[in-house]
Amino acid sequence: MKEGEFGKIRKAIKINKEVSMGNFAIEEKWPTRDSSIEDFSKTFFSCISDEYNTRHNFDRSKKENIFKNYIEDTLKNNENKKLYAIEFGGSGSELFRGFSKDFFYKTIGICLKDLRKISEKFSDKLNNHFVIEGDILDIFDKKIYNDINKKFNMKKVDLIISRMMGAVYDFKKNEAILNNIARKWYSILNENGLMFVQFALPKVEINTEELVHKWVGYINQNFKDKIEIQVEKNVFCLHKKFGAPEELPEYKPEEINTVK
Ligand SMILES: C[S@@+](CC[C@H](N)C(=O)[O-])C[C@H]1O[C@@H](n2cnc3c(N)ncnc32)[C@H](O)[C@@H]1O
Repeated sequence: MKEGEFGKIRKAIKINKEVSMGNFAIEEKWPTRDSSIEDFSKTFFSCISDEYNTRHNFDRSKKENIFKNYIEDTLKNNENKKLYAIEFGGSGSELFRGFSKDFFYKTIGICLKDLRKISEKFSDKLNNHFVIEGDILDIFDKKIYNDINKKFNMKKVDLIISRMMGAVYDFKKNEAILNNIARKWYSILNENGLMFVQFALPKVEINTEELVHKWVGYINQNFKDKIEIQVEKNVFCLHKKFGAPEELPEYKPEEINTVK
């Protein structure tokens, strides 16, 4: 890492901590919160595998159903085991209620503040859904991952979704922080697992898009047949196929000259 990089990372972490504290104070005020699966589908339908869409001859105007169908069709191949899913940056209660009954064995939503009413907590419990409070951008905080292990009694998950909408815009997108989070989430993903991530707000965050395209270029170059990534304007979908590496090696953009 270049000299001075550590200083920049430290500064970005400090800024992000302050942003998270600010967001903690306004959790009640987000216009979009605890959204439905249909709403998530509108954000992510564009990054669903072209090959899947062609094979199923999906009508892309029916955005509401594609997301759920693709996830269930892909993960049902993990037939012999119980399925686990996480939303990073949201309570996930409505989202996971939208999947077919008992499709997931256990699910978790991670957000800054748990605002659920007692009745909602009760019905989540019946669905094996849990909410963890924590800061997902704090790359030094191990508590969230310890809590996940405790709730799931399991180290790996089959589905990761992150759609922070307005909140995604506020953060300092330091390359090292983004890499760290992407590698962490990838490492807890099971074989044949899926990861949907909103990394920027459309139109307003061009720099982040460039960073992500560079990273995707690196993955395509090194793991083309094992990891499928479809990246669109502000979202990507990653499929960790059977036989994919368990962890991603450290990505050092400054050492990669040939990435298109
Ligand atoms: C606009 S809401 C979107 C909620 C949900 N994903 C949805 O689409 O309905 C933003 C969410 O991001 C969460 N969030 C923002 N910063 C976070 C952070 N650093 N760590 C964990 N969650 C965060 C907030 O707690 C809030 O639930």
